[in-house]
Amino acid sequence: MNVVMIGAGYVGLVSGACFAEFGAHVTCVDKDAARIAALKAGEIPIYEPGLDNLVERNMRAGRLAFTTELAEPVAQADLVFIAVGTPTRRGDGYADLKYVYAAAGEVATHLQGYTVIVDKSTVPVGTAREVLRIARKANPQADFDVASNPEFLREGSAIADFMRPDRVVLGVESERAEALLRELYRPLNLIEAPILVTGLESAEITKYAANAFLATKISFINEISQLCEQTGADVHEVARGMGLDGRIGRKFLHAGPGYGGSCFPKDTVALIRMAQEHGVSSRIVESVVEVNASQKARMVSKIREALGGSVADKTIAVLGLTFKPETDDMREAPSLAILPALLDRGAVIRAHDPEGMEEAKKELPAAVIYAAGIDEAVQNADAVVLLTEWNQYRGLDLPRLRAQMRGNVFVDLRNVYERELMATHGFAYTCVGR
Ligand code: UDX
Ligand code: UDX
Repeated sequence: MNVVMIGAGYVGLVSGACFAEFGAHVTCVDKDAARIAALKAGEIPIYEPGLDNLVERNMRAGRLAFTTELAEPVAQADLVFIAVGTPTRRGDGYADLKYVYAAAGEVATHLQGYTVIVDKSTVPVGTAREVLRIARKANPQADFDVASNPEFLREGSAIADFMRPDRVVLGVESERAEALLRELYRPLNLIEAPILVTGLESAEITKYAANAFLATKISFINEISQLCEQTGADVHEVARGMGLDGRIGRKFLHAGPGYGGSCFPKDTVALIRMAQEHGVSSRIVESVVEVNASQKARMVSKIREALGGSVADKTIAVLGLTFKPETDDMREAPSLAILPALLDRGAVIRAHDPEGMEEAKKELPAAVIYAAGIDEAVQNADAVVLLTEWNQYRGLDLPRLRAQMRGNVFVDLRNVYERELMATHGFAYTCVGR
């Protein structure tokens, strides 16, 4: 099968390489010539564990190619996936679909033979139908269908999530489109991954509803963590007590500084807009968004209190900047809200992150000092703040850390450490909800 993937970002590149691994002939198209040149030279522009080997192996096998020109690959394609960015539009929170629509129009003019145009990007309900209208208008003679095949990939485990999905959702309108997509995903039959066939709109809403529900779990446990702090309860124990109920499930009940990333923040706001557009309520998701924003703000006051009420002239070592471990992605990372607030209050910030510092430098204020290693970050620090739970920060040499610091405050925003252990090493330890 010939597959074209439009957009070689976190989603398009992983999906394209995985489809090639399934045996399809994949051409990844991207407008960003520098990105395509890098990929052709075997350089992966994003940090995703295992992606470099997957891309290299499939390029060598002749199943994966990169180009900026879509005309020829589209003419040969059985399926054309649209995986371009759907960023939140500045100011109004709508998902910006201009790239999706531009791709649809461009693809349509080059279609030859029966082809399925598939939305892989997370797009508001109704987008597939709009893509159909745009493509039909651009090329009335073309023989094609549209489909929606949302992705449920987590950054840092995207390949595993693709290769062993909980489910594949296919939003289709014709038997032909369904047959082609089933053939593409056939390698998953081996592990009996459920293939769920729905209408276009159901597939589109499923993606948003799933992400919004996961974000709801996180904001829920973050709000419960406040009650735990006031009552001497331990949010880890509460989360375990809740999660053992099969109807609730154990995942996504870790209290922390709030969720970030390129999906939850964008998809929750987009869902709220969709509800508004269709005149229905979205009060729960609206609260989820509000709770998340206030959780980040609460972390700032937590750090201030841990330092006796003021961070002015205090040196704070921040361990972790990315929105989660195993990624270099800084999009909507809690650090982007927390660090500027600390700087505004006169703190000196010495930051470290295993992968994200290059990206962070583009987003954080220039006043942030970047340390090449943990030792350099904590040197003479009055406080250490653990913000992203990278493995490198899970086994810190606590006596060494204590000796290098000027103060003894340790603010663990990911509840990695145990209070008793920290006390034996002389740390004034605070965390979230325990
Ligand atoms: C994006 C959305 O953010 C996500 O919500 C959706 O599920 C999938 O697409 P991501 O892959 O992270 O996810 O986007 P991004 O990393 O921004 O990559 C988009 C790529 O598309 C970029 O490489 C960009 O150069 C490319 N692009 C964008 C095109 O090739 N053509 C365009 O017209 C616009
Ligand atoms: C998410 C969804 O998991 C994935 O299915 C979807 O396709 C894309 O969005 P991602 O954003 O890559 O994936 O990361 P995820 O692991 O879900 O974490 C999202 C955010 O929630 C991170 O900031 C993480 O720190 C936070 N989180 C996650 C918590 O604060 N607590 C948790 O229990 C889980």
